[in-house]
Amino acid sequence: MDRLPYQAVISGVGSYVPEKILTNAELEKTIDTSDEWIVSRTGIKERRILEKGKATSDMALEAAKKAIEDAGLTPPDIDFVVCGTFTPDYVFPSTACILQSKLNLVNAACFDLAAACSGYIYSIVVGSNFITSGMAKHVLVIGTDANSRLVDWTDRNTCVIFGDGAGAMVLSREEKPEAAEDRRGILASFIKSDGTGWKHLYQPAGGSLHTPTHASIDEKLHHIKMEGKETFKFAARAMANASLEALEKANLTTEDIDLVVPHQANVRIIKNAMRKLKIPMDKTIINIDKFGNTVAASLGIALDEAYRTGRLKDGDNVLLVAFGAGLTWGGIVIRWNKSLIT
Ligand code: ACO
Repeated sequence: MDRLPYQAVISGVGSYVPEKILTNAELEKTIDTSDEWIVSRTGIKERRILEKGKATSDMALEAAKKAIEDAGLTPPDIDFVVCGTFTPDYVFPSTACILQSKLNLVNAACFDLAAACSGYIYSIVVGSNFITSGMAKHVLVIGTDANSRLVDWTDRNTCVIFGDGAGAMVLSREEKPEAAEDRRGILASFIKSDGTGWKHLYQPAGGSLHTPTHASIDEKLHHIKMEGKETFKFAARAMANASLEALEKANLTTEDIDLVVPHQANVRIIKNAMRKLKIPMDKTIINIDKFGNTVAASLGIALDEAYRTGRLKDGDNVLLVAFGAGLTWGGIVIRWNKSLIT
């Protein structure tokens, strides 16, 4: 890997959330819950909901336009689109291909990647490997999910947690400098899965095993089913494991990290992981209060917010870390480079 002549740098980032806000107070009117319970157990105050008639690809479109513009590129410059999502517009074709038709990505090969909340991390890993192998010059990475379409709005265990949105990143190819300290962009990554835990978080019907029937709809099998406690326990382990593995590959320690961008699933999970890693919370981006868990979009939205609010300086070491259904998890160490792009 290290002998390859290229590095993948971040040339553009963007994100999008729908305008419609759904507050905890509004949820109190439809299910047996309270603002106090949701905030104290998850950290979420409100989330965004995609309007009717729009789809996952429409949010991807807005985020992608911003990222490509931020990179100073145009859509035909993009060679590959990797789109992390678990709420595609259709089972097929891919949401990435729909985005291609909407954004004139005429020179790209496009596909979706299924890793749920780890979708952004997995997509960056795939995209950066296209770059470092020499296959691509510019890769558009997307994380986009319309979770409001998948939740059962009568299930208080899940419906309070999720929100809609999209994040995007353009990865570009550069010659890799000789000295490790001069390298920038994606420094190292770690991804892992454990399929034995697939039942902790899944959509029972809608795939090839249980195609839609009247009964499956009556039994609400097309919605997210989650074992919250099991997922919580797994998340606490996975976040620390992924962070340490990625840092080791980057030859860095937690003390070298300037900013952590963690998956926004539950503020208690983030605090737990930061405590294990001995990283102070003021080095962590938290925006779950505004957006809830946006699944594959979560890291992209948080990274874009960090960038646009001036929390990232060139040369900063940034850790992205996530876990999700599958079970899947992963971490990426980035040396932030945005304004150094020529
Ligand atoms: N409002 C009020 N009460 C609630 C609500 C709610 N919205 N939801 C659950 N409760 C109740 C439960 O019914 C339970 O009541 P009981 O004791 O009478 O049975 C009580 O609150 C405690 O429930 P717990 O499940 O023990 O609550 P917990 O503190 O574990 O929090 C939560 C639940 C927030 C779901 C937590 O377990 C969690 O965050 N888990 C991880 C989920 C996650 O990260 N999912 C995303 C994965 S990423 C992906 O790929 C999609």
